[in-house]
Amino acid sequence: MDIVKAGTYEEMSELAAELVEAELRERPQAVLGLATGSTPEGMYAALARDCESGKVSFAEASSYNLDEYCGIPASSPDSYHAFMEEHLFSKVNFQPGATHLPDGNGGEAACESYEKSIEQAGWVDLQVLGIGNNGHIGFNEPSDHFPVATHLVKLKQETIDANSRLFEDASLVPREAITMGIGTIMKARRILILANGDAKAEIVKRAFFGEVTPEVPASVLQLHRDVTVMLDARAAALIP
Ligand code: F6R
Repeated sequence: MDIVKAGTYEEMSELAAELVEAELRERPQAVLGLATGSTPEGMYAALARDCESGKVSFAEASSYNLDEYCGIPASSPDSYHAFMEEHLFSKVNFQPGATHLPDGNGGEAACESYEKSIEQAGWVDLQVLGIGNNGHIGFNEPSDHFPVATHLVKLKQETIDANSRLFEDASLVPREAITMGIGTIMKARRILILANGDAKAEIVKRAFFGEVTPEVPASVLQLHRDVTVMLDARAAALIP
């Protein structure tokens, strides 16, 4: 596990974008695993800027997002489809059809077909992750086991509370989601996990310097061969 301590959020975002760009230079046809949330927004802005200037190209790459809410249409401004369109897909040169998100309203059949589609793509080359305050990755919430494949989940109250900032009204936050499993994520060849801000300092310490346990889903990454944990100074404040 490589721990990279950046200073500010902007520095972390630039370093993260550099890592993704290096992957795309080495492997133009890379399968990228992508995350939503506040954490990667700066990285996406840097990637959009660098694609615009010709420094990086997504023309041969493809992507699979980690997760999507259930119960809202993909066309809703609150969906992860919309988030990705706004922050990355509308600003870089992926080919039409090269980007994928799970169908939040497709039930078990959508879980199976999403997992199969990632498998057919040869699994993910570089998976980008954020971490929830409770240690979740994707929407794999703390539990007594590590879910293997793409599946439906009931979100924990703390996740609903954390995500309510992005909704007009807390009652509108979906209670369920579809997410890649821990097994899906662990099949990625390389993983980049980002965390910034004071609120993530405690969980960063537990996840990467504590016991490997499904109670802290991100802790499983300690068992992966090629993980880079990239932090700003605030999120790194409690680690040795
Ligand atoms: C998003 C995702 C989540 C977020 C996590 C952190 O696709 O899978 O695991 O990465 O909830 O969210 P932020 O970045 O908003 O703190």
